[in-house]
Amino acid sequence: MTRMKPTSRRALLTGLSASLVAPALLLRVRAQAVPFIDYPFQLGVASGDPDARGFVIWTRLAPRPQQADRGLRPAPIAVRWEVAESPAFSRLVAEGEAIARPELGHSVHVTLDQLQPDRVYHYRFIAGGERSPVGRGRTLPLEGAAVAEVKIGVAGCQDWQSGYYTAFRHLAREAPHAIFHYGDYIYEYGPRASAFHPGLRETFATVRRHEGPEVMSLDDYRRRYSLIRSDLDLQAAHQAACFLCSYDDHEVVNNWVTDQVVRGESPPQVFRLRRAAAMQAWYEFMPVRIDAFPEAGTSGPWRSYRWGRLLDARLLNTRLYRSPQPCGDVFGSLCAEVRDPKAEVLGKAQEDWLVQGLTHQPSTWNALLQQVMMMNVDRARGEGRGINTDSWAGYLVPRDRLLQRLQGVPNLVVLTGDEHQHWAGEVRRSDADPASPARAVEFVTTSISSGSDGRGERSEHAAVLSRNPQVKYIRDERGYALMTVRPDGWQTDFRVVSTVRSVGGTLSTHASFRVLPGRAVLERL
Ligand SMILES: [Fe+2]
Repeated sequence: MTRMKPTSRRALLTGLSASLVAPALLLRVRAQAVPFIDYPFQLGVASGDPDARGFVIWTRLAPRPQQADRGLRPAPIAVRWEVAESPAFSRLVAEGEAIARPELGHSVHVTLDQLQPDRVYHYRFIAGGERSPVGRGRTLPLEGAAVAEVKIGVAGCQDWQSGYYTAFRHLAREAPHAIFHYGDYIYEYGPRASAFHPGLRETFATVRRHEGPEVMSLDDYRRRYSLIRSDLDLQAAHQAACFLCSYDDHEVVNNWVTDQVVRGESPPQVFRLRRAAAMQAWYEFMPVRIDAFPEAGTSGPWRSYRWGRLLDARLLNTRLYRSPQPCGDVFGSLCAEVRDPKAEVLGKAQEDWLVQGLTHQPSTWNALLQQVMMMNVDRARGEGRGINTDSWAGYLVPRDRLLQRLQGVPNLVVLTGDEHQHWAGEVRRSDADPASPARAVEFVTTSISSGSDGRGERSEHAAVLSRNPQVKYIRDERGYALMTVRPDGWQTDFRVVSTVRSVGGTLSTHASFRVLPGRAVLERL
């Protein structure tokens, strides 16, 4: 796998950024005078990757979203964009023209960089006489600012076939400062009539089907993202707040790491072609900065978002640089490989960046925004011990090293996805020893729809809780989590929806936890 040093990568991308953003003048591309054959903004708008000077605004022209050509000729199209402080757009604070390029599926990424800190803005796009929906984004405060409160929504795992995205509609209404998407934005699978749920040993009928077989090519991935983005509840969440975009495994294929698919289904050089297609489609559809541009088949570098002195949220990538899963990646197994001294989760460059950033200048709260569970949980149903090999529990050497290196960092909170259940617990270097001090708390956010309607309490929950004193809470329902961060405490509300098998599921809060500064201890409210 080709991997560039962050500095050289950034240098390359700065040049690339200029060539992507500025050429409206160079190419003299004119706004399309002829009307589109249908409304071109059917996939909505989005914002993401905020800093104190701005954020990225995104759209994608697609009068026919499910056609390979999107109902457009393969030519660049000029798109006008406007930013205002009020949703009525009575006074523009920024405006310009961007190019929707056919090579990038007529997607548009504009990096706003002349806005005021800690302020809400509204944005929209105009092309061919058509106007997009209006989106909303918020800049970060200045680095040293005293911030009274930040609300972060957390969501992910949105299997189209398992259910409706009602939870996203509810999350949009919370109007959070930002939304961390931990991944599984798409699933690669082909259509199915029903799905067997291994955890529940139950079969669920498919709610709505994927179009086309398992996705492999760039066109396949593009059409899958177009299908997912056609959902109006998801569009509402994107319109409501900046997303902090990550990806997990299903944006490419189940349980991939670096350039490998588990159990050697494809040779690495073949898999890299698929990964490159998947990464390009991911970039095209996400409101991310130019340094996430797919380069040498990879994308999605790590990133820090700082809300003044209150919160440093570090978005991590636990797929791209990770060693293959131990024990043949058999869930619930355990073997000597989990102590492999050469194993990596973040890779050296990302781990050093994380440790240096947090230890050099820690904020009041310091959050790791990442994908797979950090608690080392014993999942065995009978005798012996077994783990989720696709989690940090399968990588004890880098896990222990990271927790040791972050020892002096105050108020560490880990935000995670992947499990399709809400979990809360405490992270210890030795999770098998409840007497050892907790280094962090971890909040795992359930799926938007994956796994279909849950059962609330599962039969194995009691055994997991009794074998793992560090785990304080598990809930099998669909929804999202809302983090409310203040100088005097961190609160997590685990929101759940009544159903994802029909539209209109109602929202409730199943549990809330509070963490006080100075103690990695969960208090249930
Ligand atoms: Fe998932």
